[in-house]
Amino acid sequence: MNLDRLVAGLDIGSAKTTAIIAEVVGDLPRHPSVNILGVGQARTTGMRRGVVADIEETMRCINKALADAEQIAGARVDSVFCGIAGEHVQAVTSKGIASVTGAEISRSDVERANAVARAQPIAQDRELIHAIPQEYTVDKNLGIRDPIGMIGTRLETEMYLVTIGSSPAMNLRKSVERAGYRVQELVLEPLAAALSVLTEDEKELGVALVEVGAGTTDLAVFHEGKIRHLGTIGYGGNNVSSDIVHGLGVTQTDAERLKEAYGCAYEPMVQHGEIIRLPSTVAQGDRQIPRELLAHIIHQRTSEIYELAVRDIEEAGFLKRLAAGVVVTGGVGAMPGMAELASEVFGIGARIGMPGEFLGGLADSVQAPRYATAVGLVQYAAGRVAQGAISGKGKRLSMSDAAPTFAGLAGRVKTYLQDFF
Ligand SMILES: Nc1ncnc2c1ncn2[C@@H]1O[C@H](COP(=O)(O)OP(=O)(O)OP(=O)(O)O)[C@@H](O)[C@H]1O
Ligand SMILES: [Mg+2]
Repeated sequence: MNLDRLVAGLDIGSAKTTAIIAEVVGDLPRHPSVNILGVGQARTTGMRRGVVADIEETMRCINKALADAEQIAGARVDSVFCGIAGEHVQAVTSKGIASVTGAEISRSDVERANAVARAQPIAQDRELIHAIPQEYTVDKNLGIRDPIGMIGTRLETEMYLVTIGSSPAMNLRKSVERAGYRVQELVLEPLAAALSVLTEDEKELGVALVEVGAGTTDLAVFHEGKIRHLGTIGYGGNNVSSDIVHGLGVTQTDAERLKEAYGCAYEPMVQHGEIIRLPSTVAQGDRQIPRELLAHIIHQRTSEIYELAVRDIEEAGFLKRLAAGVVVTGGVGAMPGMAELASEVFGIGARIGMPGEFLGGLADSVQAPRYATAVGLVQYAAGRVAQGAISGKGKRLSMSDAAPTFAGLAGRVKTYLQDFF
């Protein structure tokens, strides 16, 4: 294990917190591979709809997830790449311009144009987390991906700027710091998930990533190889469970169990005549229902979530540009029928997104749609290490280690992320 190449990803969701420790093994900035060394999980209790509602509780979940991951990996980390999402996320497209200084366009011309695009005034209560170059225009030639080496006098750039609310970001950092770690970078969760499950071809052709979590459903649309739209729908698996509570008269915990054991999001997939027994109180007596009824409740709510996603993507102008269809991730993505229903509601092909490409080590233990974000975070971190922007730093775990005490990592280095999203 090369301790200089250890990275950690932390996905704090409203239902569960996942930590992954991995070793970077490739050198290509675009496709560095990672060996998964440790995966830790904890039930989250301090988050509401994707933002920290209780720092102490969130801190405890982070602590448990990371301690478990470290135990399995046999190594300690002192900083993490942490996911962030929620309704406070905003994205805008910004233009920058630079005149070309030499005979042909150089890296420094590109950096100047990008710096102009990036220098948008940002509201005091917001932070810029990603500045992603989309495409360039050289003189009058539009849609250029890599202008370096081209001849021209005027270079224009279009950048996608993603900002987040400062207070959700601060509360997240605070929770991680109280747990004894440092946030190396915040990464937008659906962008991380996209890294672990989408193929280059899908992003080129046009694809919508739909991450159905517990509290929210996050959207990321790619077209012509670039991120084009981000969205959040304020509903997820929790709403499906609440509908089961009301529809079937069971507790929240039993609703979750029923959903995970017998749930199906696409009613026509359930066999006619299949019966399930409901957990019941003495007064309720022995209760049995057709599994179709459970599927009906789930189908209704899930299609409403998908319809909201369709509307959001349509308003952004990308519904007709999804030639590669829809990829569903998030915990709810494990439910049978999720791809079939997505295909029906969107009217295009759909599949479930499982992390898997470029993974070694304990890759098997993260092969489920709920790990898409956490795996994407370590892949993103690996890309940063391969790019030379940061160096990972871990420490072998020994029994005498009481707390992470080693020096912090090199400071945050801001580079343009054209190689990532
Ligand atoms: N096999 C399954 N079938 C149906 N639902 C499932 C299954 N496994 C997990 N879920 C549901 O997935 C949801 C959790 O998803 P996930 O772990 O992606 O959420 P999260 O990241 O904690 O939340 P969020 O991203 O919304 O903040 C819960 O509602 C859970 O009941
Ligand atoms: Mg999540």
